[in-house]
Amino acid sequence: MGGVPPWVQRRRVIISAPLNLPEGRNLLKAKDGVVDHLNNLLTIELTAINQYFVQAEMCKNWGFERLYKGFRSTSMEEMEDAQHLIRHILFLEGVPNLQRLNQIMVGETVPEDLELDLQAEMNAVNALGEAIAHCEQVQDYATRGILQEMIRSEEEHVDWLETQLETINIIGLELYLNQQIHED
Ligand SMILES: [Fe+2]
Ligand SMILES: [Fe+2]
Repeated sequence: MGGVPPWVQRRRVIISAPLNLPEGRNLLKAKDGVVDHLNNLLTIELTAINQYFVQAEMCKNWGFERLYKGFRSTSMEEMEDAQHLIRHILFLEGVPNLQRLNQIMVGETVPEDLELDLQAEMNAVNALGEAIAHCEQVQDYATRGILQEMIRSEEEHVDWLETQLETINIIGLELYLNQQIHED
């Protein structure tokens, strides 16, 4: 009489489990400032999608089929980056901002386009670096991992752009553009 049977203890443990759930769910929620960084990166990606897309169409219009393919496939890669960012923002229970675009920079010549893209990619790499440092600071290692993947793809874009500009320097613009008429 008076003793608490062991199953009552067990039951108390079971009851306490759902009470702990909200705290557990918080682990999934974004750390301070992470969604803001992700939305800033999303703006950069959305701008890049449009910039490469219009440059691709201009190249097609000029008859540079090979460059058209290059710009167009880069635009698609930026779209995949935007998709990853949107998915991750939603996963963190944030709101992806698709209303914002930076200025879309389009040149009057192919080398101008390449230079403007290079600036945009440098800007993206810098913003990614800052976001990665922030994730490190607030110990959001999952987001940091995603962004580290993304910075690699931007560095490949930088590499492609630099290769085009170097080739123009070496062989001259006329010959370079001649090579852009037919796709590979
Ligand atoms: Fe990107
Ligand atoms: Fe890029």
